[in-house]
Amino acid sequence: MMPMNEVQEWFRSFTGEFAKDDGSLEPLLALKLHHSYRVSGEAERIARKLGYDSALVTQAEVLGLLHDVGRFPQYRDFGTFYDAASVDHGELGWETVSKSGVLQFLEEGSRLAILDGIRYHNKKEIPPGVRPESLDMVRLVRDADKLDVFELVQRYLEEGRIRELLPRIPETGKISGDLLKALAETGRASYSQVASMADFLLVQLSWVFDLNYGPSFQRILDRRVIERIENRLPAEPCVRSIIEKARGYARSFAVERGRP
Ligand SMILES: [Fe+2]
Repeated sequence: MMPMNEVQEWFRSFTGEFAKDDGSLEPLLALKLHHSYRVSGEAERIARKLGYDSALVTQAEVLGLLHDVGRFPQYRDFGTFYDAASVDHGELGWETVSKSGVLQFLEEGSRLAILDGIRYHNKKEIPPGVRPESLDMVRLVRDADKLDVFELVQRYLEEGRIRELLPRIPETGKISGDLLKALAETGRASYSQVASMADFLLVQLSWVFDLNYGPSFQRILDRRVIERIENRLPAEPCVRSIIEKARGYARSFAVERGRP
């Protein structure tokens, strides 16, 4: 069994190094800190629902906690979370955790799976060359991360604070035609095409097609994620059709597997 406490202790002390003189973190880093703890919880939950043994559940929990470690040096060195204008925070986190030695007490397979999870959690798609033994953990953390970001964005929208979270995206504006076309044709769209909050929500909706596990789809349905996004989008036929596709997709894969 892996001593989760040691990892938590390391994480606390690592993130503490980025605190200001008064001991607090910049608000955006505090947000990443809390996101990390919640993703750890989501990852643990998915692993349990999948019926994983306790060592794998802990592995998922550790991965969730460490997946965004790269955000801290990224923000310190570049003042942004925008990877395209700074650094790939998955790569930076992978490098940071590798060098830290925090996972050295693990057997190699576990350590590599966690490191691969950190490295590939933020890639648009899972690259074909990933070690097959790491694939389950890579998929799991990608799901857990998305589940929390869905919640986070909705919460900030509900509280009228979305500008704090997404300062680069104009709050109003039409849905971009190119984005709709890309989504309708391929089910995917890129952030470079996002020019309004509605665009962003549509791209976020397309994440549903990237989820991997039954319990993740179930979580989406339980939290009414698709409906909450739908309420904030114009009721145009193109938009409606993408929403229905996402809902149908989530329903068809939402199965609770393993022990509750
Ligand atoms: Fe991330």
